[in-house]
Amino acid sequence: MAKKPPASGIETSGHDEVMDPGTAVEHSSAPQNPGLAPEHQRVTDLDEKEAKGMERRIAGFFLLSIVGSVFAAVAYVVFPIIPGDMSSVRVNNLMVGLGLSAALLGVGIGAVQWAKALMHGHELVEERHPTRGTEEARAAAVETFQQANKESGFTRRSLVRNTLVGALLAAPIPAVALFRDLAPADDPIARMKQTMWAEGVRLTRDPSGVPIKASEVTIGSAFHVVPDGWKDLEHHKLEEKAKAAVLLMRLPVDELNEDPAKSSWSYQGIVAYSKICTHVGCPVALYEQQTHHLLCPCHQSEFDVANHCEVIFGPAARPLPQLPITIDAEGYLVARSDFTEPVGPSFWEREL
Ligand code: FES
Repeated sequence: MAKKPPASGIETSGHDEVMDPGTAVEHSSAPQNPGLAPEHQRVTDLDEKEAKGMERRIAGFFLLSIVGSVFAAVAYVVFPIIPGDMSSVRVNNLMVGLGLSAALLGVGIGAVQWAKALMHGHELVEERHPTRGTEEARAAAVETFQQANKESGFTRRSLVRNTLVGALLAAPIPAVALFRDLAPADDPIARMKQTMWAEGVRLTRDPSGVPIKASEVTIGSAFHVVPDGWKDLEHHKLEEKAKAAVLLMRLPVDELNEDPAKSSWSYQGIVAYSKICTHVGCPVALYEQQTHHLLCPCHQSEFDVANHCEVIFGPAARPLPQLPITIDAEGYLVARSDFTEPVGPSFWEREL
């Protein structure tokens, strides 16, 4: 019978031979450690004048970083974001972005140039050692650190070092300006306590703004509602809309378990509740009409509309605030007043 060739396709001698793996390794030619390449002398190693020139260029990059940081902070104030004006947003972002780019690039390029052109260029092989070295090793580390300090010129090249320190200190300046403006200039608590709802304000569809008649709200339906007139606001238009967002639903009257003190807050089974989740403020937008449950998609808090929107599941700590409603002379749904409690999480306004 013909002998089957090996899978590799390499011809073997006529007799089979079992090879010891150790022997195979001995026979193979092990790669040789080529060692480190000869040290390349840079122009800054050979010419002190070149080194000085490089030092000035590096300092220039760090100075550019300082200028960039200051520019970003100043630009944020000089080119403010005007609510409702998208071109002001673009100009503000462009200017602040240019400043931040210069600040980060300046530090980055300066640091890389310092390492490549001025710090010593030895290639090193670092042997592994136990976490805590011997006393000799520790002393050697200190010596190495001192040597590195000497070779990098960190102490000696005071111009580069000081400008780098200045650049790093200046880097957080834009952050101070940016974070400071996250809080509104006026009293944020006062603004959160009030919404646009007031006696007689019509409930309108979001986003069309069409007023809603009570007769249009059929049992089982749910409307996303905003107050009439929010588009006419001059300032904080979107914030006011977000605070006042409401969900409107109609339940069979006999399924509505109302607090007797709030029985006049609904109209023939039509109820309105704030759409801002009392957990951390996501919009509660999923209405399950058969169970009368509202679901917040963020962390799955569930509110029971039939029972004052009390929390039946999830991390929300209190019911959704109810908006008292009635109808006007033309049959349109209107608010009786603003909410009687803050909407949303509002944890900063509550007594423990
Ligand atoms: S924000 Fe609604 S459950 Fe967390």
